[in-house]
Amino acid sequence: MAQSAERFVCQACGATYRKWVGRCESCGEWNSVIEEMGREAVPKGLGPGVGRKIELTPLTAEASDPPRLVSGIAEFDRTVGGGLVAGSATLVGGDPGIGKSTLLLQVAAFLSRDGGRCVYISGEEAPAQVRMRARRLGLSEAALELGAATSVRDVLATLDADPAPSVVVIDSIQTMFVDQLDSAPGTVAQVRASAQELIRFAKRRNAALLLVGHVTKEGQIAGPRVLEHMVDTVLYFEGERSHQFRILRAVKNRFGGTDEIGVFEMTGTGLAEVANPSALFLSERDAGIAGAAVFAGMEGTRPVLVEIQALVAPSPLATPRRAVVGWDSGRLAMILAVLDARGGLGLTGNDVYLNVAGGLRIGEPAADLAVAAALISSASGTPMPPETVVFGEISLSGEVRQVAQGDARLKEASKLGFTRALTPPAGKLQTAGIETSAMQHVRDLVEFLEARGASSIRRRDHA
Ligand code: TYD
Ligand code: MG
Repeated sequence: MAQSAERFVCQACGATYRKWVGRCESCGEWNSVIEEMGREAVPKGLGPGVGRKIELTPLTAEASDPPRLVSGIAEFDRTVGGGLVAGSATLVGGDPGIGKSTLLLQVAAFLSRDGGRCVYISGEEAPAQVRMRARRLGLSEAALELGAATSVRDVLATLDADPAPSVVVIDSIQTMFVDQLDSAPGTVAQVRASAQELIRFAKRRNAALLLVGHVTKEGQIAGPRVLEHMVDTVLYFEGERSHQFRILRAVKNRFGGTDEIGVFEMTGTGLAEVANPSALFLSERDAGIAGAAVFAGMEGTRPVLVEIQALVAPSPLATPRRAVVGWDSGRLAMILAVLDARGGLGLTGNDVYLNVAGGLRIGEPAADLAVAAALISSASGTPMPPETVVFGEISLSGEVRQVAQGDARLKEASKLGFTRALTPPAGKLQTAGIETSAMQHVRDLVEFLEARGASSIRRRDHA
């Protein structure tokens, strides 16, 4: 018998070894070499005539949209692209206690009104606990089938009856296990195998599968990244535990866009939809305070106005503190550097704190100008004029760049009673009731606030 010569394979580059090594000699990766059982040599080729011929179709073949299961919870339906797709798998990730179980119980209960079988399998709570929550949510009457199980074999045996369920919720994938594997539930191997079995079932019986996934300290869905590759849609449910707002965000979607968000509020009776997030994010605003600016942002196709708060204070430390909530700290460092080098502001020796109100996370570069406005306003002690929104991207040269969907941003601002906007220069924006001031350069922003009474905050060499 041939000796199985090279059984150790680097998982990063595919190099093979006779014995285990800690570091792959070919790609330099540490700890990537593992022993692979089974096949001893590369197969010699499949030979002709054994495979089944598959049918190839042209791109032009009928492209009907997949039928959608619409829950009627508009914030959820929009986030997944207009409703759940039958036969698809959706992963919902989020911190513990953020409201994943609550959200999916509500969604499943609403979907059960369409008459299809909706099954909620909990691996974490007893049916009595789920029932109690349903009562609190006012959903006791829903035709939902509850089960408590952690064995995927049992779950599939239960689900594979007729009629096939149209919606299956698994809460959570980390509690499920496949009994052929030795490893404990929650390990990479178990999570992957359980998800694979459940997804195969969903595709075969055309059920919409919803998997709850826990999130690790690093903010990723626990278990392998590969879980995100296996499912069709990945949603993150986020928010600050101390705030009521919860944001459902699609980060991957094979059946729709990935930049839509759904906004919810956690109330005593479950999650309530927030149809007008801007009003909510601005509800606690103190107009007329230095260091705040209202950013007219976009989340997907939806405009969202949110307040950006900054505090700039002289630092006693050799390395001043920088703390950011809701925005990218690297981006803040860049804006501070640009304000210093191009705007002539000496902010480098100051502690800088930046906060996006309401627990929202902003990813758009369009927030640059609003962040700069909040910083300058705080540093100079001059409030921004009330009823003013700000948006625009700032380049390294200090120029203000055009951003997309300016009209939609202004319309939302006008709807909420704002009367003025600081915008990028290009493209004449016109919206009834909003007076726009175009900012060419960050210097214009400094001058704008100086004209409002800020004593000169520029370094002498720039005055
Ligand atoms: P839960 O859905 O259990 O979170 P997860 O499944 O993500 O761990 O919800 C947890 C929190 O939500 C809990 O701390 C209590 C709160 N909550 C409400 O405020 N109102 C409600 O109606 C419900 C059901 C929960
Ligand atoms: Mg839960």
